[in-house]
Amino acid sequence: MTVLEVLQSTTAYFKKHNVENPRLNAEHLLAHVLGRKRIDLYLEFEHALTESELAPLRDLVKRRSQGEPLQHLLGTVEFCGLTFLCDKRAMVPRPETEELVELLKSEIQNPESKIVDVGTGSGVIALSLAAKFPEAEILAVDISEDALALARENAARLSFADRIRFLKRNLLEDVEGSFDLIVANLPYVSTQDRHTLSREVLHDPAMAVFANGRGDELVRELIAQAPSRLSPGGVLALEIGIGQSDALFSVLAEKKYRDIYSKNDYSGVTRFLFAKYG
Ligand SMILES: C[S@@+](CC[C@H](N)C(=O)[O-])C[C@H]1O[C@@H](n2cnc3c(N)ncnc32)[C@H](O)[C@@H]1O
Repeated sequence: MTVLEVLQSTTAYFKKHNVENPRLNAEHLLAHVLGRKRIDLYLEFEHALTESELAPLRDLVKRRSQGEPLQHLLGTVEFCGLTFLCDKRAMVPRPETEELVELLKSEIQNPESKIVDVGTGSGVIALSLAAKFPEAEILAVDISEDALALARENAARLSFADRIRFLKRNLLEDVEGSFDLIVANLPYVSTQDRHTLSREVLHDPAMAVFANGRGDELVRELIAQAPSRLSPGGVLALEIGIGQSDALFSVLAEKKYRDIYSKNDYSGVTRFLFAKYG
């Protein structure tokens, strides 16, 4: 079969198995197996594939059609222009979180800011900020040993291992010092909403997805903890779930934060909250 024929048949197979963006997925997997850039496939449509090239593709196509995330199959994910290792030890980073990082890049005025990323997962927020702000002092915490191991591997691959400290912590408990920015993309899905999630999301660690009650418990806990860890005028930046902004806005106001504002993500969902303290 030629490259084009394989792409067409894989796309049809993915469509039948309800894989979103079937053609794009087919291109990514074929490029991965061939060790090429996706765009290069377009120059090789007539190239005939050997059995040894097709065999590993079959396995990946089957796993993708059963709901395994593309990023797990590729082993990497692009985030804010950097390549991160990606596997089941931490959540697959989402495009919304890239938007959060972009917002933070304009929010951060002092290049030497002290920053803590709470619930760092694979480390994407902390490491993207480290790339943008080489003089910033960055701490990344997570409650999951597995996530921290992955984040440390990502830091080493990007040559930032000596620039970021990683700590296993429950939110900011026993975290010393004060910060100019506390950023967090914590779990925000209620366990009751499990049935609404895609097959792919169910491959993320449960600890990265679900929080108790209405889903915003951990965010509320962090809002309560943060004032004692923020430098005067420091910023708390949160990624939150659909429909959570009004209630969390009120909690921030009750806790005496100031300059509270929300931002929508590109799909129009109110997804980010920013607030200052002191
Ligand atoms: C939604 S994931 C976000 C991961 C990463 N920051 C990102 O944006 O892709 C939430 C992360 O919070 C961590 N987490 C859950 N409960 C926590 C807690 N009580 N304290 C610290 N981290 C926690 C999870 O292990 C997970 O890595």
